[in-house]
Amino acid sequence: MLKGNFPVDKFKALQTPFYYYNVELLQETLDMVKTEAGKYGYHVHYAIKANANPRILQLIAQNGFGADCVSGGEVQAALDAGFPAGKIVFAGVGKADWEINLGLDNDIFCFNVESLAELEIIDELAAAKGKTAAVALRINPEVDAHTHAKITTGMKENKFGINLSQLGMVLDRLAELKFVKLIGIHCHIGSQITDMAAFRGLTIRVNEIQDELAARGLQVENLNFGGGLGIDYYHPNHLPVPAFDNYFAVFNKLLQPRPGQQVHFEPGRSIVAQCGNLISRVLYVKEGETKNFCILDAGFTELLRPAMYDAYHRIENISNDEPVAKYDVVGPICESSDVFGKEVELNKAHRGDFIALRSAGAYGEVMASQYNCRQLPKAYYSDTI
Ligand code: LLP
Repeated sequence: MLKGNFPVDKFKALQTPFYYYNVELLQETLDMVKTEAGKYGYHVHYAIKANANPRILQLIAQNGFGADCVSGGEVQAALDAGFPAGKIVFAGVGKADWEINLGLDNDIFCFNVESLAELEIIDELAAAKGKTAAVALRINPEVDAHTHAKITTGMKENKFGINLSQLGMVLDRLAELKFVKLIGIHCHIGSQITDMAAFRGLTIRVNEIQDELAARGLQVENLNFGGGLGIDYYHPNHLPVPAFDNYFAVFNKLLQPRPGQQVHFEPGRSIVAQCGNLISRVLYVKEGETKNFCILDAGFTELLRPAMYDAYHRIENISNDEPVAKYDVVGPICESSDVFGKEVELNKAHRGDFIALRSAGAYGEVMASQYNCRQLPKAYYSDTI
């Protein structure tokens, strides 16, 4: 059974559960993104929501990336980690006044505006400061991402973005507002997208939107395609760095950019997912009548994705190479949804064995909770452990 490489001896002194980050793999991934996006002069804003661990943010900021934020807290975390304000984009359907003011005070690059009501408030708050807010309209491109319903965002019935049918009306109003300046259009169709056809559809739709804008005599300086590139949760050991070459090539091939137009992306998962792993210990092996349970000291409080989205994470016993047996791998939380995997093949599990939940760097630590009065997990890094 091909497993990840973990410094198990060093883990022995640590209290589980914890997140373990492979910073060399993160750097390799960042280098790949820089190379592939750099080929076409594309700008990359890392989606802070995927992982806001300060050390991870600093590493990404040091590599020259911008940040994509969805709350005032994320804007602050990005600034604290060293992302330049001039590379921060700020999306979200429900930006509170203080959050908009934080963006205005720091002169962030752009607000990705999701409704007419929000646009009017940004105009009002910018006016009060005597500033002009740079805005991009987040448009609902109505492209189906063919991903999990809970992480699809680009369809009409989603709460996100401005529907295509209402774009004209919003543009008319925008022309009347004095303290907002239209600098771009923004789209994001969903997350964990592995079929490039969805991104092809998105690019073609953006070409059409550009034609509509041109018909109104409008041309924007920036196009932002959001995030969404998926990763291989099944083979983290074979394919640790996602295929950024294929991804960016889709846009380069199909997009019809206007002269001087800048192209932006907001990847989250594809940058950080594979470098992070949740490490836990086996508390008990419980032999049931029809199945065996491997009960971990980690639960959905540390990694919510399986309980919330039925998401698959590869599970490995990294303490031994004994013959495999099948277990339902579960956590200690008092809810029956606290299951990481059913009928999972693991090297025979014993109390105290280390179990790695792989590909947990994105939407893992950042979604942890203190339910059941549990402590938030600590994090350790391959270069400092
Ligand atoms: N930009 C916008 C506007 C977004 O809403 C998102 C993610 C991203 C960028 C980054 O997308 P990514 O490259 O990471 O796919 N918690 C869920 C995923 C939620 C994604 C929300 N939006 C999960 O664990 O699968």
